[in-house]
Amino acid sequence: MTDTLVPQAAEAEAEHAPTKRLFIKTYGCQMNVYDSERMADVLRPLGYAPTETPDDADFVILNTCHIREKAAEKVYSELGKLRELKDAKAATSNTTMTIAVAGCVAQAEGEEIMRRQPAVDLVVGPQAYHQLPELLTRTARARGERIGADFAPNDKFDALPATRGGDGVTAFLTVQEGCDKFCTFCVVPYTRGAEWSRPLAAVLDEARALADRGVREVTLLGQNVNAYDGERADGKKATLAELAHALAEIPGLDRIRYTTSHPNDMSDDLIAAHGDLDALMPYLHLPVQSGSDRILRLMNRKHGRQKYFDLIERIRAARPDMALSGDFIVGFPGETERDFEDTMDLVRRVNYASAFSFMYSPRPGTPAAGMGAQVPPEVAKDRLHRLQALLLEQQVAFNAAQAGRTLDVLFEKKGRHGRQAIGRSPYLQSVHVDDADHLIGKIVPVEIVSGQQNSLTGKPIAPVPSSRDLGVSVLGA
Ligand code: SAH
Ligand code: SF4
Ligand code: F3S
Repeated sequence: MTDTLVPQAAEAEAEHAPTKRLFIKTYGCQMNVYDSERMADVLRPLGYAPTETPDDADFVILNTCHIREKAAEKVYSELGKLRELKDAKAATSNTTMTIAVAGCVAQAEGEEIMRRQPAVDLVVGPQAYHQLPELLTRTARARGERIGADFAPNDKFDALPATRGGDGVTAFLTVQEGCDKFCTFCVVPYTRGAEWSRPLAAVLDEARALADRGVREVTLLGQNVNAYDGERADGKKATLAELAHALAEIPGLDRIRYTTSHPNDMSDDLIAAHGDLDALMPYLHLPVQSGSDRILRLMNRKHGRQKYFDLIERIRAARPDMALSGDFIVGFPGETERDFEDTMDLVRRVNYASAFSFMYSPRPGTPAAGMGAQVPPEVAKDRLHRLQALLLEQQVAFNAAQAGRTLDVLFEKKGRHGRQAIGRSPYLQSVHVDDADHLIGKIVPVEIVSGQQNSLTGKPIAPVPSSRDLGVSVLGA
């Protein structure tokens, strides 16, 4: 299965190949963002360079998400527009545009895509994008390839080129894929397959390469990232906490984050690591979905609300300033007003720094879609508004509470105004600072002046010395 891509051979071919333009549009979670970057890496040796718009693209990939109905339907409307572009291109310049659908919709309904939109040349599931080069040459001969119905993530990671494109100071790094939890509402176990972890050494190699390229913050990705159990050199398994300790040793890598975690995999050593490791950032995305024990049971989350409260207490004992984030679903089948009030109560008790909340969307093939007592949309909508108002209130209060504090900010990019720079606080808040574009790539203490709904404003005090900044003059103490 892995014999389809030989990067060295592909590179040799690229020496003669003219530049072709590649446009990738990414939907869904961070794992799709990572996958899109890796697809670009796989195609680079074939002469494909990224472009910002589909208008002039030779190859367009939609990297899709199947999590809610709206996300999946977006793909078909986007494909409609691409078809017009493809037809116009063929008519005016007699050139072709190849269209591929990748990601979770490709996995879940590949055949339907082919049927509904004849302009699509190929469909490639999340575990098969390393086969894109070979697929492309085959597509030139015949349309209708559909690859990736089987799950073998090790093949994919083994076949990806060692080098990664990009020049940012932050990066995503997939360490775990798939899910064995089977929450009754969720498509992920079907689109991404069983839980699988990359070996420890492979993750560390990729992290070192990122640090060498100037990356200072890495976000480890997995559908259940805290279930990570990658193989070590001695054949035993490493936990996410062990991985975090090993990553913290890499010179230049100053910040480590991870997402998404399941409450049941929040192990003692991982909680302890938050107290022991400065590099592990005090922000944790720990979805609970509902505050009602009855609904949690129907969702097959395999834990109750008290377990979640206990967990939060232990996490805050290890790291008192931990900022918490979560995901919530309202209107799950059978959810009563009382169940919903339990969710509101849980949110009040936990106090989130930020959170995502969704109206339940029935997904084909999932157990919840067949449950009776679906909640009427207007009831679900009303609950969503109430929940979002509370979560927003907490987020605004959390941001406002940073005023007067000094936070270490990793500056990532230029802002929109003048020499403004934008970075991230340890708590993942966006921080805007004027006259600071010379600080991009640095971690600098910033005095926070004010906190708004979605960002903080501040002024820098002095650069912090770190492994990477040593040798650079350090102003002040
Ligand atoms: N693995 C993560 C979540 C992945 S999906 C976890 O277990 O928490 C991201 C979020 O989408 C979920 O946390 C959930 O809140 C939401 N979601 C998943 N399926 C959904 C559905 N059918 N309807 C509405 N929201 C859904
Ligand atoms: Fe979906 Fe549940 Fe798995 Fe998260 S843990 S990906 S919500 S099945
Ligand atoms: Fe969507 Fe697939 Fe991610 S369904 S949320 S892109 S794992």
